[in-house]
Amino acid sequence: MKITSAEFVMSNSEVSKCPNEPLPEYAFIGRSNVGKSSLINMLVNQKSLAKTSGRPGKTQLINHFKINKNWFLVDLPGYGYARVSKRDKKVFQKYITEYFEKREQLVCAFVLVDIRHEPQPIDLEFMEWLGTHAIPFAIIFTKADKLKPRAIKKNVDIYLQQMLDTVWEETPPYFITSSSQRIGREELLNYIDQINTTFFEAKT
Ligand code: GTP
Ligand code: MG
Repeated sequence: MKITSAEFVMSNSEVSKCPNEPLPEYAFIGRSNVGKSSLINMLVNQKSLAKTSGRPGKTQLINHFKINKNWFLVDLPGYGYARVSKRDKKVFQKYITEYFEKREQLVCAFVLVDIRHEPQPIDLEFMEWLGTHAIPFAIIFTKADKLKPRAIKKNVDIYLQQMLDTVWEETPPYFITSSSQRIGREELLNYIDQINTTFFEAKT
């Protein structure tokens, strides 16, 4: 899929105020600093459409970006960021949870995990939560530029095997990416394109 336009639409902390057009949308979620905003910029070929930072906790709202005038990418705050106050954390959690529970336009959640780390409980628990809510998701391994191919394969295998060994009967779709090296862009855009096609076919 070719990206012909990408524009910021709005930031929100209330799901009810998000864009109400019936267009498919894809949300990027994961621990703070995992690279959600950077990946959005890489996908749309823009340096700073989504705000990024070396310090965790940069993205603090639900951010909608309209792509090719007919679907949305959604940048969300990271979870597991220790430095925000307890109260802020609760508020974050509430609207992130609400977003996933209520947002009918959401067709796929992309759960980002850093390819260098072993599976983290917070990510596995979040995926389980998505599963119990029947929300389709795929895993995106980020920062693949930091590892050699052999280590990438090893870590992905460990990750998926752990999912199978615990609660999952099958593994979700997954993508290996690097925003700095532009790895995984085509695969991810093709995947989105397929889901968009199904979405619009079902509408007609
Ligand atoms: P929050 O908004 O705080 O939740 O973070 P985020 O998940 O949006 O992360 P962000 O995109 O802001 O990136 C965090 C840091 O990781 C920045 O310093 C990025 O430059 C770096 N980073 C992101 N993607 C990559 C990547 O593919 N490779 C490398 N080496 N660094 C990356
Ligand atoms: Mg961010």
